[in-house]
Amino acid sequence: MTRTGVYPGSFDPLTKGHEDLIHRSLGFLDKLVVAVAVNVGKQPLFSLDERVAMIRETVQDPKVDVQSFDGLLVDFARKIGATVIVRGLRAVSDFEYEFQMALMNRHLAPKLETIFLVPAFDLTYLSSSLVREVARFGGDVSGLVHPVVQAALRKKLGR
Ligand code: PNS
Repeated sequence: MTRTGVYPGSFDPLTKGHEDLIHRSLGFLDKLVVAVAVNVGKQPLFSLDERVAMIRETVQDPKVDVQSFDGLLVDFARKIGATVIVRGLRAVSDFEYEFQMALMNRHLAPKLETIFLVPAFDLTYLSSSLVREVARFGGDVSGLVHPVVQAALRKKLGR
């Protein structure tokens, strides 16, 4: 039996923290679908196509597939045959939001389990929003994102 997981998020943009979780989850999954959310109620810096393309270029692993999804995550998970949702937990501040989402997803799809992974210690402070902010003001993001993402940020922000 193939164990498939779904790793959903905005990925605006993908960070080294996301990459770390992708690789960690492959330790117990046969296949991981990185699911880029279409409608996250936010105005993203990168378009959906840009985010998907960046992840595909960054994570070149035959066990990882990158797709976009619209609507409910549980419906997408069912469509691709995923049995687990992978999410990262960095700090206590993530907990409430993640706990609410996990319980709502369980309400909607009781057999779909949410698994929380903790990123590498030196990546726990990292978030896409901080990366965007640092890049916007010309800070160095080279240790925080893949060179592909760094180049995309430079192009997008004109720096
Ligand atoms: O990276 P993010 O922005 O924290 O990801 C949030 C995301 C995309 C995982 C979440 O908003 C989501 O699952 N959206 C899809 C809509 C949905 O299923 N909502 C109900 C789950 S509580």
